[in-house]
Amino acid sequence: MHIHAYEKLWLACSVLLILFLIGTVTYGAVGPGVAMVADSEQPIDAQNLDESERFADPGVEQVGENEYAAYVVARQFSFQPDPIVVPADSTVTFYVTSADVIHGFEVVGTNANTMVIPGEISTLTVETDEPQEYGLICNEYCGAAHHAMEGKVNVVS
Ligand code: CUA
Repeated sequence: MHIHAYEKLWLACSVLLILFLIGTVTYGAVGPGVAMVADSEQPIDAQNLDESERFADPGVEQVGENEYAAYVVARQFSFQPDPIVVPADSTVTFYVTSADVIHGFEVVGTNANTMVIPGEISTLTVETDEPQEYGLICNEYCGAAHHAMEGKVNVVS
């Protein structure tokens, strides 16, 4: 009789463990994983960027005395605009979105680096100093020509 009781206990434990594991996997898939895109604004329709006021013709605009907003579209396999021209000694906020798949946005040699997700707007603020030409690369695999997806960020006086 004792043996039977133990078997039931172990069976119950096994079932609980399985439910716990399923719960962990499910929660992990829909829970914290999605929270990574904390630096984005309101979602945007990736299929209709042409109808977006800010991304139909993306570019750099002055928004304050020394502040600029740079709107950038990443798509297979380029960045628009290219080059992205921003003034020296200023604060520049990049607003980056994708027209198709997930891309990366990394200004080479700096810590300016973000993932770019269709339907989301990644924002990133930098301080520019001296005039300099920077490379811009995609660091998320996005298709056959991922390795060739690059642009320029030109800091000008
Ligand atoms: Cu775009 Cu890799």
